[in-house]
Amino acid sequence: MTSIALSRQERIRRTLEHLRAGTTDESDGVMWFGPEEFTDPRIAARERDHVFGRVPSIVAHTGELPRPKDFLTLRMPRNQVLVVRQDDGGVKAFVNACRHRGALLEEQEKGSCRLFSCGYHRWSYDTDGKLRTVTREGTFGDIDREAHGLIELPCEERHGFIWLIDDVDVPIDVAAWLGPEVDEILAGYHLDRLLAYRCEGFDEPANWKIMQDAFIDNYHIQYAHPNSAGKHVHTNVQAVEDFGRHARMCSPRKKIDRWLDEDPGDRDLGRYVIDGHFLLPNSTLLRQPDDHFELLTFRPHPSDPGRCRMEMRLLVPSIEDSGMDPERWRKTWEKNWDILLAVLHQEDFPLLRGSQLALTSANAGGMILGRNEVVNQIFHRELRKLVS
Ligand code: FES
Ligand SMILES: [Fe+2]
Repeated sequence: MTSIALSRQERIRRTLEHLRAGTTDESDGVMWFGPEEFTDPRIAARERDHVFGRVPSIVAHTGELPRPKDFLTLRMPRNQVLVVRQDDGGVKAFVNACRHRGALLEEQEKGSCRLFSCGYHRWSYDTDGKLRTVTREGTFGDIDREAHGLIELPCEERHGFIWLIDDVDVPIDVAAWLGPEVDEILAGYHLDRLLAYRCEGFDEPANWKIMQDAFIDNYHIQYAHPNSAGKHVHTNVQAVEDFGRHARMCSPRKKIDRWLDEDPGDRDLGRYVIDGHFLLPNSTLLRQPDDHFELLTFRPHPSDPGRCRMEMRLLVPSIEDSGMDPERWRKTWEKNWDILLAVLHQEDFPLLRGSQLALTSANAGGMILGRNEVVNQIFHRELRKLVS
């Protein structure tokens, strides 16, 4: 394991060395944890406040709000949120609650809107959050309009993503949160030029950490996915860079085996590996060989430790950038998306729902992360720092 950014060549060489030796990057020791981390409402409350209410997490890809007045809504662990593209091209996030008596202001998941108008008594707000109309104003009484615009949440757009802190009073600085290495790595991908080909959310009966753990885990591949990912990706072989909060993990595909006995020299073996990125607190960004990405995010439910929302996004080069003909482009990504969904629904979700069920047992006992589960250890190590 290293704590400095390696070149692509160095990462791939390390994975090849591991493959040849039957080894993988390892932490110093095993790590213990208890089942209550996935079931205790007090721990869940601390995570909502001290993790999601303190640090930035990704809520969307830039391309999901292409034009001014485009909006999307989501449920963060602490707030119902409305994210709106502004006329100046920037993006703002608000608590999605009317300032009159708190009705849910925007009910649609996505759309475009000149004015947000409340369904209860028809107060309305401009897209920058200003209170525009108080209906029947003559009888309502005097209020300070300036002070009754929508409540704004800290929000920033960087590296093609919209990031949010789920608390009004915390300043947001995504570059500082990422740190120089990860900020530079993400900048290098030009993710803002990609297209969010498909985005889908799944409300699952499992703690968000059970889900997040599964999507940084290279140890389960051949056992849980023998007929899908296990056929294409090696199990228990990773070169990991630990950047303090975040990590990058390079996993070899099986096609790399042809270079086990032969020295690849200066050849670019990029297409034989998957570069994964764990972005604390709750995202996995996978860079696949032909320069498309999958983003997986996991958010706790606002009150139930046994539920969460996962979102999956497939980010791909546009038809023009890919040089593909439109029909082939569409078919390629449609097929890709269908495979991702099938693996989720048939393999990961049933397993992880079972984990939540089992961990809810009164006597589930203590559990262990192995030395080989390096990225999971980083996730839990950093989470403990935030929560404590
Ligand atoms: S609650 Fe929105 S206008 Fe009354
Ligand atoms: Fe899996």
